[in-house]
Amino acid sequence: MARLVDVRPVMAGSTSRGFINIDETRYAYVAIPTRLARRATRPLLAGVVVGKRAGVDWQPILARVLLAAGLAALLAALAAVLLARRLARPVQRVSAASSRVAKGDLQARVPVEGSDELADLARGFNHMAAALDEARRREGEFLSNVSHELRTPITAIRGYVEALEDGALQDATGRAEALRVIKTETERLERLVADVLDLARVGTHNFRLTLRDADVAQVLREAATAHRTEAKERDVAIDVSVAGPLPCRTDPDRVRQIVTNLVENAVRVTPAGGTIRLSGGATPGWVSIDVSDPGPGIAAEQVPHVFERSYLRNVGEAPAPAGLSAGSGLGLAIVRELVHALGGRIDVASEPGRGTTFRIALPA
Ligand SMILES: Nc1ncnc2c1ncn2[C@@H]1O[C@H](COP(=O)(O)OP(=O)(O)OP(=O)(O)O)[C@@H](O)[C@H]1O
Ligand SMILES: [Mg+2]
Repeated sequence: MARLVDVRPVMAGSTSRGFINIDETRYAYVAIPTRLARRATRPLLAGVVVGKRAGVDWQPILARVLLAAGLAALLAALAAVLLARRLARPVQRVSAASSRVAKGDLQARVPVEGSDELADLARGFNHMAAALDEARRREGEFLSNVSHELRTPITAIRGYVEALEDGALQDATGRAEALRVIKTETERLERLVADVLDLARVGTHNFRLTLRDADVAQVLREAATAHRTEAKERDVAIDVSVAGPLPCRTDPDRVRQIVTNLVENAVRVTPAGGTIRLSGGATPGWVSIDVSDPGPGIAAEQVPHVFERSYLRNVGEAPAPAGLSAGSGLGLAIVRELVHALGGRIDVASEPGRGTTFRIALPA
């Protein structure tokens, strides 16, 4: 290593570069020739030495950088593990709870912590589990109602059949009465079974709609005619008011089933001397049907539940209006399913003591 700046090139007029050692430290230098005057013939060395430590020892720096990088990587890994745990724990909880639900434990719930997406997930899961739990409770209630409803007529039929068999009913009137009860109870059973099947089919969408061009006004008149005799026996009138034909592309048999169910209920609740009114109208794209009765009405708190299967029969504090005991409590549930299947809407307006109106809107 040179100890002195090499000035020879400078004196010859060119720049000189190199390294020199000063106090054991290596410096790079550049020496540039300068002239005092433009015309001076010899350059004067103004040895501009740009000292810069050369040959830096990278090893200690490299070691420190590597150490820092290693530490940073370790910290990042630690943070990732902690974060992953924080994210995974709620998801694992939801996963464990869904396994419990899948095994039938519908009481399984997940604790909701924080207010992020994971809390939303937990809330959503709890909501779903609660809805399933409620559906199962209703299902069980429905099943026990149906079995109860099935057992009642069967017990009556069996009792009368046994009485007839044993010869306990000697007189003609007694036998006729027994046969009448057996007949009505059999009809009740038949209707109940048909209702349950209907509801199961409609609920699973396992039934067919046959859409065709129909006149809803005609359907209303036919439904009224079908119930006039029964209504007359109770001194109830059925009035149909439609201005003209109500053309509608729908399944008229299902519409008849809907109206029939509503009229049956209306006939049962209407007091003697009362009139049930069926009316129909059209608005662009829709056909509406109203079935009104002057019966006892439905209490406001029960109105939202009136389409639930057997709901009103379970409300202990609200006894069914006189004459309604013959039903199975499925009619309105079937009505709502059918209306929805036809793409329509159904509403009920009721004033306790003054009567009830069911209003249906079907897409024309
Ligand atoms: N027009 C009405 N006025 C007052 N209460 C009604 C009326 N329609 C229905 N309800 C009440 O709602 C209950 C349920 O009616 P829904 O038609 O579903 O069953 P149901 O008539 O008892 O039996 P089903 O129709 O299956 O033979 C009835 O038992 C009755 O208590
Ligand atoms: Mg009914």
